Amino acid sequence: MSAYTRREFLEFLGYSSAAIGAVTMVGCKKKPSQQSLEQLKAIPAGLSKDEVTLSPGFSYDVLIKYGDQINAKESFGFNNDYIAFLPKGRNKAVMWVNHEYPNPLFIHGNQNNATKTKEQVEAEMKAVGGSIVHLERNKAGQWRVDFTHPDNYCVNGLAEIPLIAEMPIEGTKTAIGTFANCAGGVTPWGTVLTCEENYHDMYGERVAYNKREIKSSKYSYDWGKHFPYPPEHYGWVVEIDTTQKTAKKLTALGRFAHEGATCINAKDGRTVVYMGDDKAGECIYKFISDQKGSLEKGQLFVADTANGKWLSLDIKKQPSLQKKFKNQTEVLIWSREAAKTVGATPQNRPEDIEINPVNGDILVALTNNKDTKDYFGSILRIQEKDGDHLATEFTASTFAAGGPETGFASPDNMAFDNNGNLWMTTDISGSAMNKHPYAFHGNNGLFVIPMQGESAGKAIQVASAPHDAEFTGPFFAPDGKTLFLSVQHPGENSRSLDSVTSHWPEGGSHLPKPAVIAITGPMLEKIASA
Ligand code: FEO
Ligand code: CA
Ligand code: CA
Ligand code: CA
Repeated sequence: MSAYTRREFLEFLGYSSAAIGAVTMVGCKKKPSQQSLEQLKAIPAGLSKDEVTLSPGFSYDVLIKYGDQINAKESFGFNNDYIAFLPKGRNKAVMWVNHEYPNPLFIHGNQNNATKTKEQVEAEMKAVGGSIVHLERNKAGQWRVDFTHPDNYCVNGLAEIPLIAEMPIEGTKTAIGTFANCAGGVTPWGTVLTCEENYHDMYGERVAYNKREIKSSKYSYDWGKHFPYPPEHYGWVVEIDTTQKTAKKLTALGRFAHEGATCINAKDGRTVVYMGDDKAGECIYKFISDQKGSLEKGQLFVADTANGKWLSLDIKKQPSLQKKFKNQTEVLIWSREAAKTVGATPQNRPEDIEINPVNGDILVALTNNKDTKDYFGSILRIQEKDGDHLATEFTASTFAAGGPETGFASPDNMAFDNNGNLWMTTDISGSAMNKHPYAFHGNNGLFVIPMQGESAGKAIQVASAPHDAEFTGPFFAPDGKTLFLSVQHPGENSRSLDSVTSHWPEGGSHLPKPAVIAITGPMLEKIASA
């Protein structure tokens, strides 16, 4: 895909008067000070340091890292990803953090699946899923983890979780474990959605619908050797109620490599969830709940971006699905096949989705797709007809394209701040980072794209990640004065514990550890808080 010129890019900006839903995840109270955006200095391009480098006026603290005890029996898991910050009054909060995948080297040291023991698999299962920790704001206004809070807990690869489905799936309505938890969302009623993405790495996947053979993935952890659970129990969106300490798998939202699940309330109060399937050539989905306050039942649609239509995946409405599948539960289990059957548009790996709090535009990070020679990715903009999230028609256009001209590549997670600026992290894979054609980018980074003023539409890099790492899960505190951010997989290219490629965050000769950081500072406040 050719990079957009700056003029074309700016033409995409300009807010429409489209109405937005009753509930948005990001408030928008006033316009940013143009002066502060002009004062914002980008970090040097192409940095490759083993540290978190930030623009002037920003600073960070490590909040929690892999292995930190969060209660008497459990510790903070590996490869932290999505973060949800749930305020509980002015100075207290609950933080949910996804743990996406294990790295056997740093968890138990055995990188050979053939000799991996049941105990080693269990250690990997305990390192994924999610952690719930309680936070407090100190007198200096900084958020800190309360490691002694009695309600800190984990939901991991061994947890018993009900499948909310019309029919039993592989003979049961209970799954064991959640893992591959990538991005997520927060519902209007304050529960967390955690999304099972590359689930096939743990228990594989059936070779096709109506076939029993299971195929392992290229990056398999081979858990099935010791725990023979069926692949159909994974690849769902899981709803977590941190207050009740419950979890449930919402099968109505379909089964695929769920990146995230971004919620907004429609005009009539029902909740709409936008979701991407992060695999080359897979699709963008939308779910509309049947009732207010619940995602257990509803309608699933998939995007035909060539014609601007949301296509129903309801077996009752689609004769082509009736010919192929026995019932709606099977349609949901095989969402990808159903999507292709009704004519959905293949995309260049849909990652995170965010909704512009000012105008209701839906932005979808399409990270890259080597199959279509899209190396740098782009951000797709979907505008629902009449600004209505219940609409079945929309227009789609490219909002921003990655590449040397715009300075970023492989957009992944996104967040809007209180002034309507878009923040975005990049995910160039460890094997491609700092090599052609990505050398211009250096390590992965964090960018802000101002939506107004002289810098509107320009991607400004404000942070660079340690070696091999990726920033994930950006989430603003409600006042916009703290940006929580995951630093995922530092040192991932390490071959052995004797020759690690990163020592972040502790430095010296320490092993690398994924960690959550809290970014603060006067420049962040000027730009992001309202
Ligand atoms: Fe886990 Fe698509 O990133
Ligand atoms: Ca991602
Ligand atoms: Ca990614
Ligand atoms: Ca990742």
